[in-house]
Amino acid sequence: MQFKKKISLMASAIALCCGGMVAAADTATVAQPDQPWMNRQLGADQRTELVLQAMTLDEKLKLVMGYLGADDEGKHFKRPPASHKQSAGFIYGVERLQIPPLWQTDAGVGVASQAGPEARPATALPSGLNTAATWDLQTAFDGGAMIGAEARSYGFNVLLAGGVNLMREPRNGRNFEYAGEDPLLAGKIVGAQIKGIQSNHIISTLKHYALNDQETGRTTLNVKIEEQAARMSDLLAMQIAKEEGNPGSVMCSYNRINGVYACEHNYLLNQVLKQDWGFKGWVMSDWGATHSTVPAANAGLDQQSGLPFDVAEYFGAALKEAVQNGWVPQARLDDMARRVLHSMFEHGVVDRPVPATPEAIDFKAHAAVTLRDAQEGMVLLKNAGRVLPLSSSIKKIAVIGGYADKGVMAGGGSSLVYPAGGNAVPGLEPKFWPGPVMVYPSSPLSAIERQAPQAKVSFNDGNDPAAAAKLAKDADVVVVFATQWTGEAFDVPNLSLPNKQDALIAAVAAANPKTVVVLETGGPVTMPWLPKAAAVLEAWYPGTSGGDAIAGVLFGAANPSGHLPVTFPASEAQLPRVELDGYPEPKEPRRFDVDYHEGAAVGYKWFDLKGHQPLFPFGHGLSYTEFALSDLDARVEQGVLQASFTVKNVGKVSGKQVAQVYAAPLDVRWEAPKRLVGFRKVEVKPGAGVKASVSVDPRLLAMYDTASKTWKVAAGNYKLMLASDAMDQKASSVVVHLDAAVYDVNGRPVAAK
Ligand code: BGC
Repeated sequence: MQFKKKISLMASAIALCCGGMVAAADTATVAQPDQPWMNRQLGADQRTELVLQAMTLDEKLKLVMGYLGADDEGKHFKRPPASHKQSAGFIYGVERLQIPPLWQTDAGVGVASQAGPEARPATALPSGLNTAATWDLQTAFDGGAMIGAEARSYGFNVLLAGGVNLMREPRNGRNFEYAGEDPLLAGKIVGAQIKGIQSNHIISTLKHYALNDQETGRTTLNVKIEEQAARMSDLLAMQIAKEEGNPGSVMCSYNRINGVYACEHNYLLNQVLKQDWGFKGWVMSDWGATHSTVPAANAGLDQQSGLPFDVAEYFGAALKEAVQNGWVPQARLDDMARRVLHSMFEHGVVDRPVPATPEAIDFKAHAAVTLRDAQEGMVLLKNAGRVLPLSSSIKKIAVIGGYADKGVMAGGGSSLVYPAGGNAVPGLEPKFWPGPVMVYPSSPLSAIERQAPQAKVSFNDGNDPAAAAKLAKDADVVVVFATQWTGEAFDVPNLSLPNKQDALIAAVAAANPKTVVVLETGGPVTMPWLPKAAAVLEAWYPGTSGGDAIAGVLFGAANPSGHLPVTFPASEAQLPRVELDGYPEPKEPRRFDVDYHEGAAVGYKWFDLKGHQPLFPFGHGLSYTEFALSDLDARVEQGVLQASFTVKNVGKVSGKQVAQVYAAPLDVRWEAPKRLVGFRKVEVKPGAGVKASVSVDPRLLAMYDTASKTWKVAAGNYKLMLASDAMDQKASSVVVHLDAAVYDVNGRPVAAK
């Protein structure tokens, strides 16, 4: 694996910095008569034009050049003095015009820190996949609002969140940062999170634009994909997230697409994002993803990020020269600056400056937010003989493996949040980029002890399967934890649990049939021991309240309601690419193609198309109660397909069900037999029924037509299915006839000529 070394100062100690924090007032800016853009009564468009007119060439150039907010000794780079220590980035503002700098921090699960001795403690949400597994937009919003509040408190006005790359590759090391394999679910969830983040008057990104779906060779690979397939898959997820969340910025990715780098891709940046989708914010490059001055600027890149990651300061003096010579039109530089300014006005960055010194954070309240998210997203995959929930009157519990005595796993790379309390298991390899391997100090073992104070709870670290099996044999119930550390800049070689944990689980389950497996993984894994395990709970990376979240679900304090946002394959042989392209990475980076021959048939669509039986299908998730889905009805109202249905709780405890509506064309062909076209998560009391409905985005019933840039729904019959997962055998269905219809590139009806 090839690791990008982020910075050379690599001490991983955590400073618990916040004791003496000064609370700063939210100093509102004041309008001066000669600074009419500070008039809050005016709209963002007008204010932007006014300040742009007052700017010099050099001031505009300042806004489009970003620097790393950390020293890099290897590259002889010192962070700008006004940047925040160990932060991802900094862009100078224009003080004389009251335009503040941009202080940037990663990422989607909370306020991350670059490695070093002064990482800022913050609350980590569970992984993005966990939040997607909630299928709940309010939970996604709340999590976003919480991490956005922490970003603001630390003085950051840009959170580099909003990862929505589709899971085409289950071995991708960054899957945990994203939201799964379906464009509707991923787009809606990430959009809601962005909205939550920006509710703090700061800006969120949407990233990594686009088709950056594996880490192996991410800076050298070239994705080959048809335009139509891209529009109907990864780009659709981005488009929906953009509509839902209105992000201030979009981050273009490292890879090339059909031969062209994402950050100098005229089609992706100028045509799709800005022209077709009407994006008014700015495009920033990923750190090290700018490769030129003139081609990049003219293709639509608005801001270079994270110098010294790129080989040159392309958007510094070189851009000035290019503008002065007309190679990059002055109007283009104006547009670049305009876009940055517009987002700053629109999202309140100018009017509500972030505090100059960190404000105190209510970590207790935030712990409750991440706990809720974790518990809404954990997926109960199997529960044979209803071994779960555990009774608090159990006498002997054996807890095994997974550092469960210490804490819960976190994903690695730039998104790593450093928790209050420090790493519970310091020193695991790799210690440096994309490490350190972080275990959040929220011990499932202690939380289990709190849930079952009467029980004798014993722990074995799992290093010796025979000793673990011996402990298991003697227990009333066994909870075995397995972890898979994944992270940025590398992919996992296969879908097996690492470090011989499959053998450990098999040994433990053979010793005691009442074995509950808790998985803390970055994404899907295979489970050769599955028939032997009584229960399996997929806890993803559960965040800084992870231990309590897991124990609460195990004992039924919270009823699991997560559903898989990804397919769990039975083996790598079922994947579109059986071998991971470019793996293992050679020492000398080389260019290679990744052929997306599956087109838009991503995830369950591919499995449907090929007739593969997965280990667990997309959408799957059990509960401690039982649900019945009924009364599916579908009709077209004012041109929009509506589906309504009833969710009944036919079990004994209150719970939440995720009702999923899939559509399958009967008279025409899509890229795959069916698509998810709507979903609703509903809470239902035992014995009760709840009516719910979804309205279907027409793009999900259409094929994209590249020539006319429209979405075309073909006339014909379509089967709508009401299901609890993508392979639900009990799904009920109705057939609905749709007339031919045409929608514009954004899914709005095109008036018939
Ligand atoms: C990652 C981005 C991140 C940036 C800044 C890059 O390596 O791909 O997701 O926001 O670094 O840390």
